[in-house]
Order: sequence, then structure tokens, then C-alpha cells
Amino acid sequence: MTTITFITGANKGLGYETARRLTELGHTVIIGARDPGRGQAAADRLGARFVPIDVTDDASVSRAAADIEAHEGHIDTLINNAGITGRFAPAEELTGNDAELVFATNVTSIVRVTSAFLPLLRKSEAPAVINVSSGMGSQALTHDPQRVESTIAAPLYNASKAAVTMLTTQYAKALPDVRFNAADPGYTATDLNGHRGTQTVTEGTDAIVTLATEDPAAGGGRFIGRFGPVPW
Ligand SMILES: NC(=O)c1ccc[n+]([C@@H]2O[C@H](COP(=O)([O-])OP(=O)(O)OC[C@H]3O[C@@H](n4cnc5c(N)ncnc54)[C@H](OP(=O)(O)O)[C@@H]3O)[C@@H](O)[C@H]2O)c1
Repeated sequence: MTTITFITGANKGLGYETARRLTELGHTVIIGARDPGRGQAAADRLGARFVPIDVTDDASVSRAAADIEAHEGHIDTLINNAGITGRFAPAEELTGNDAELVFATNVTSIVRVTSAFLPLLRKSEAPAVINVSSGMGSQALTHDPQRVESTIAAPLYNASKAAVTMLTTQYAKALPDVRFNAADPGYTATDLNGHRGTQTVTEGTDAIVTLATEDPAAGGGRFIGRFGPVPW
């Protein structure tokens, strides 16, 4: 039986590379993207189906879930990948609006999308949710002088990703019938960081692909990177 995987923010970067790799591995991948032109173009390149979704918008998320219910009937894996860094500004210049945009996109959206897709996930025999978090949200890595994560101060993005990891472990506790895990891609060259990341997108998607393809017995509530468990 084919695994049906829905990925948000899959028109480019890590989301697109995850879609490409999982398609190659035989998953039925549904490309979620907020821009119809870019989303359809990405889906066409992979021979996949495109479903419009702006993860910050209730109506858009509901429409995406209804569309997939009508076409595929269920999903096995939801990958909450869409995310932003927000505005780069000196910390004293950050505004409430800056914070709200980053948290709305990176954190609140995961709750919105997860709630909308849970009924479709629960029709799967092995439902899984993969939240794309970051080592930038790890207390341990952001305080380890040996790690790149400790060299950058990004209050909003890092706090949002700490919240993503905690959301993941709390969902894993609250809903044990669904396997919730968080992935840390590592510092990867994408538009998100002006392509300064040191890994390729293929390397950056290793943890996500591992979580999407491993034996369900591996369980939930974990935070893993390319080289194994990531400390919090
Ligand atoms: N690159 C890294 O080094 C790194 C490291 C750790 C974690 N991450 C995480 O990995 C994930 C993917 O990032 P990336 O590096 O691949 O960045 P990216 O190339 O900028 O891609 C981000 C994706 O998210 C989408 N997106 C943003 N806001 C959205 C919204 N409201 N609704 C729907 N889609 C939305 C973007 O769509 P548009 O094209 O329409 O803007 C794009 O498809 C993010 O959660 C990021 O925080 C990245």
C-alpha cells in the first residue's frame, strides 16, 4: 500500500527536496504551497498533485483538508515544513508585529494544520506527523560554543522553533495514536538563509526522510537530526 504524504511549503527548499526524495521512494506526495503558480510548477516537475494551502489561514487550511479528503481520502504522513525567519533586525528594533508573524507562521500554523488533518491521519494504519523544527530552537545547541547555532542571535525564530519542538513532544503525549516527531534539518543552503547554509538540501532533508520512512515502532516524541537525536 502506498504511503500518502502531505507536505506544507513544498514548492521550494527543504519541502520540495523532501517531496522529490519521497516521490522517488514510492510515496504518493501531495505538494502544499501558498502560491498557486509556484505550487503547481513544483508539483508538475515531480508528477505530483498540488493542493493550495496558506498555513496561516483557517479557510485555506480547511479547503486543503477537504480537497485531500475528496481526492485521496486520507493521509499517512503530514509534514509541517512551512516556515519563515521573519525580519532580520537588531533586537531592540523588533516589534510585536514581527513576533506575531513569526509565531503565527511557525507555531500557530502547526496547531491549525494538525487539527484540520487529524481526521485524515486517523484513517491511516500508521499515522505520523513530522514537524520541521530547528537546532536553533535547542537550549543545548544555542549554548554550545562549538556549534554554529550558538553564533547567531535570532530571538523570534529561535523561540518559535523551541515552541515547535515542545509542541511536538506535547502532541506525542496527548495523542499517542499518532506518531509525532520533530526534525532538525541542520544549516542548509535555501532561500531562508540567503543560501549561506553549509549543507545541501539533500543533506538537510535526511532527518525528515528518516522520520517519514522509518518503522512506525520507532515511536514518537523524538527530536532528531541528520546524525541522530538532537539535545534540547
Ligand atoms: N534552511 C535551514 O538551514 C533550516 C534549518 C533548520 C530548520 N529549517 C526549517 O525548514 C523549513 C523549510 O525551510 P527552508 O530552508 O526550505 O526555507 P525556504 O526555502 O524559504 O522554504 C520555506 C517554505 O515555506 C513556505 N511558507 C512560508 N510561509 C508560508 C505560509 N504562510 N503558508 C504556506 N507556506 C508557507 C514558503 O512558501 P513561499 O515560497 O510561498 O514563500 C516555502 O515553500 C522551515 O520550517 C525552516 O524553519 C531550515
